[in-house]
Amino acid sequence: MNRRLFLKSSTASGAGLLLLPRSMLFGQNTPSKKLNVALIGVWGRGLAHYDGLSRENVVALCDVNELRFPDALKKFPGAKTYVDWRKCLEQKDLDAVVVCSPDHTHAHIAMWAMNRNLHVYCEKPIGLGVEECRLLRAAYLAKKNKIATQAGTQRHANPNFARVRELVRDGAIGELRGVFAWGNRKLPRPSYLPAEGTPPATLHYDLWLGPSPAHPYNSGYFSGGPGANCLQWNMYWDFGTGQVGDMGAHTMDLAWNAIDATHPTAIEAKGDAFNPDVTPVELTAHFDHPANDWRPAIRVSWYQGGALPTSPKRWIDLNGIGHGAMFKGSKGVLVADFTTRMIIPTDDKLDLAGYQPRTESTVTPPLGNFQEEFFRACKTNLKTSCNFDYNGLMTEQMALGLVAYRAGKKIAYDGKTGLTDSPEANVFLSRKYRDGWPLNG
Ligand SMILES: NC(=O)c1ccc[n+]([C@@H]2O[C@H](COP(=O)([O-])OP(=O)(O)OC[C@H]3O[C@@H](n4cnc5c(N)ncnc54)[C@H](O)[C@@H]3O)[C@@H](O)[C@H]2O)c1
Repeated sequence: MNRRLFLKSSTASGAGLLLLPRSMLFGQNTPSKKLNVALIGVWGRGLAHYDGLSRENVVALCDVNELRFPDALKKFPGAKTYVDWRKCLEQKDLDAVVVCSPDHTHAHIAMWAMNRNLHVYCEKPIGLGVEECRLLRAAYLAKKNKIATQAGTQRHANPNFARVRELVRDGAIGELRGVFAWGNRKLPRPSYLPAEGTPPATLHYDLWLGPSPAHPYNSGYFSGGPGANCLQWNMYWDFGTGQVGDMGAHTMDLAWNAIDATHPTAIEAKGDAFNPDVTPVELTAHFDHPANDWRPAIRVSWYQGGALPTSPKRWIDLNGIGHGAMFKGSKGVLVADFTTRMIIPTDDKLDLAGYQPRTESTVTPPLGNFQEEFFRACKTNLKTSCNFDYNGLMTEQMALGLVAYRAGKKIAYDGKTGLTDSPEANVFLSRKYRDGWPLNG
């Protein structure tokens, strides 16, 4: 059936036609076809996506800083430009969006895009709080047969992630007993930056604030290098979640990938004294997870900003690893960073007798390029390794750590309702949006 005939015959089905993504309507579901993509946030982290995007059709570029357009247009000539992502998402020929704007806009852009049946690649963290993660995950699950999603945790494609999972799953350290992840990045800040004149005419500061409460303009929020400017704003509560959503998104992924966990049932956390402006530098959060079909109940712990789990051996410097994960088993301990791993026997009984290394045919196949996995999924089977189901649960867990920290006590959590046993803690599950910025638009 050619395209014209198909459109003619489908008019009989009326509204049904509107629900189908453009990629399915026009035969784009083959790997060789190009997608029409909008890039939201064209500089900074956006630059890291240029190579992959240049193999697709970039038809829309959106940035609140107009000075970023000339260079982006050199790479993607012909794309329409927007300063407001809400207008950008109205462009009718879009198949997919790649979201590289600051954290406090992620959940909104991703939700609005999914509401328009667009495939979404969203830089980490996909949401700022428990409620945002839950709503995004639910929206994705309702459409998972129509759209692909990918959270921007590209380290997941390192072969080490699969090797760590195989070792844990295949019993190399015996029965899994406990899981730890940590990061030592410290970005101490006293408070939101003071007012500093008016923003340049080329920077749409009100659109930069987007759904978040207004704070006065200060050039300090924009003073970082490409791909690192997030470190100028992500520790403020209204713009980010500090290390929980920064390196925590990558490092907890190394652990999360190996444990098949869903919702924690109890959470406790402690850290720096609470600052209403700034997320804690030092934080320790413990999450109790029920047993699943291959392991007992376990406690997963996150440490940041100077807090560290106890090293299994004095000669292993966990702080020196920087960002790492550790799995304690009944027979040994596995310590890993993003690219390497080692196993330390608990005692002389770890002879690995029951452990069979995988063969070439049973080893997890390489994931390949992480961004390409997303574009391929959009055109074929919609399957990605870090979709909003997998990553939504992980990010929800991390957000719960901050809820327990703010509540200042151990909380029980009901993954079905998304509520804790504490009315004081429940207040921290969601955030308030400025008028005109609904999450669901
Ligand atoms: N996956 C990774 O390894 C990795 C690395 C760095 C950053 N990131 C993530 O990428 C995102 C961007 O980080 P960054 O350091 O590039 O930040 P940034 O502050 O440099 O912003 C990136 C771009 O988005 C634009 N922008 C800001 N608000 C916007 C809005 N409302 N609509 C459209 N464009 C907007 C900025 O002008 C800039 O060009 C963050 O969420 C960060 O967590 C991920």
